[in-house]
Amino acid sequence: MISRIKGTQDFLDLRLFNFLIDSTKKYLQSFNFIEIATTIIEPLELFKRSLGVETDVITKEMYVVQSTSETEDRICLRPEATASIMRAFIENGAQTTPWKVFSWGPMFRHERPQKGRYRQFHQITMEIIGSQSTAQDVYFITMLDRFFHERVSLINYALLINFLGCSEDRAAFKKILHEFLEKHTAQICENCMRRKETNIMRVFDCKVPTCQELYRSAPHIADNLCGTCSAEWEQIKTMLEQLSVTFSYAPSLVRGLDYYSKTVFEFVSTELGAQNAFCGGGRYDQLAQLIGARTDQPSIGAAIGIERILLLLEKVQNKLPITTLPSLHVIIPVFKEQQMLALLIADELHAQNIATEILLEGDSLKSMLRKANKLGAQNCIIIGEEEQKTHTVKLKNMTTGQEEQIAQAALIKKLKN
Ligand code: HAM
Repeated sequence: MISRIKGTQDFLDLRLFNFLIDSTKKYLQSFNFIEIATTIIEPLELFKRSLGVETDVITKEMYVVQSTSETEDRICLRPEATASIMRAFIENGAQTTPWKVFSWGPMFRHERPQKGRYRQFHQITMEIIGSQSTAQDVYFITMLDRFFHERVSLINYALLINFLGCSEDRAAFKKILHEFLEKHTAQICENCMRRKETNIMRVFDCKVPTCQELYRSAPHIADNLCGTCSAEWEQIKTMLEQLSVTFSYAPSLVRGLDYYSKTVFEFVSTELGAQNAFCGGGRYDQLAQLIGARTDQPSIGAAIGIERILLLLEKVQNKLPITTLPSLHVIIPVFKEQQMLALLIADELHAQNIATEILLEGDSLKSMLRKANKLGAQNCIIIGEEEQKTHTVKLKNMTTGQEEQIAQAALIKKLKN
């Protein structure tokens, strides 16, 4: 037996999954986002440059594809979609800005699998490229909060926000943080010792409990902003309050990727356990230049982790307007001799958009009726020798058990009623 790869899962019931995708699509379209699709394989270099070489994703989690062609650039499976969307924006020429797009599909990260953490997982990513207004951040975050609360009925979640300032703020803050870490070198792990010199903001991603404990008393970037950033940060908080969006300030939220600047946020739920974020995002004003564009494109975006939000939706699914499948009618040709007639009748029913199945295997009428019951049939259309001869069918209502003999020509009208 060949099993599926560790950290992946098969979806055998996609009703909730599709409900989420459909609702998100409709919702985002009502906010003027358009759906796009980018490639799943990408040059490894794209993510090295955008996510940062010191991030966990780049150092430990990339799936690099082995290609038989030696001349080809190194290819990887995408670990996220923001860099790809920015690549697509730059590569496909001028688009009207703000370019509001969304996309969904599988992402790949070689992480240690646990509840809500997979090696192949799905995200719905939405991005606004080419907009620097702080009001855009507020509009975007409010849109997400309303979606979770009102469209998919989530209640037990929190919105965490931090502000990472502009490049100058981060450069100045890195020195302040460095001074702090220098005073506590005995308490930090080997990895953080290295990160302290190579990419110091990444120390906040460290999972080692003693490091985490120390970083609780570390200086906060939001306390060290320039005048402009400080005013923007205050404005964002005030505007969110005026829109009644509840949030908590999370001073050490830096998100695991290097491309962020200014606003960063996460929607978290205690119901998810250790992997508590089901949506995360922020501003990435310098990403365009990181991947080779001539000019910067101030942008903001976020991604919803589908597997994680599904864990939450499973608990509230009875409150959700998930469309039920149409009633199914099952045709039972009792013997092989009636199969051709069954095919003809099924063909007519399908032409009328009536959900129909034919049972083409079964030892006896009894066993086929049992099978139809399992399929959730509303009616069985039984065709035996007698029915074939008399151009009729026996219609059995599977809820009441009532049977009636009707003309084949009257079947469609009967089922439509
Ligand atoms: P991220 O925080 O790495 O951000 O991922 C976004 C969400 O994807 C997480 O909050 C989580 O729900 C889900 N996720 C991440 N890794 C896994 C995993 N291994 N298994 C299951 N779910 C996972 C990004 O990917 C950014 N591209 C978001 C963004 C868009 N920022 C700006 N625009």
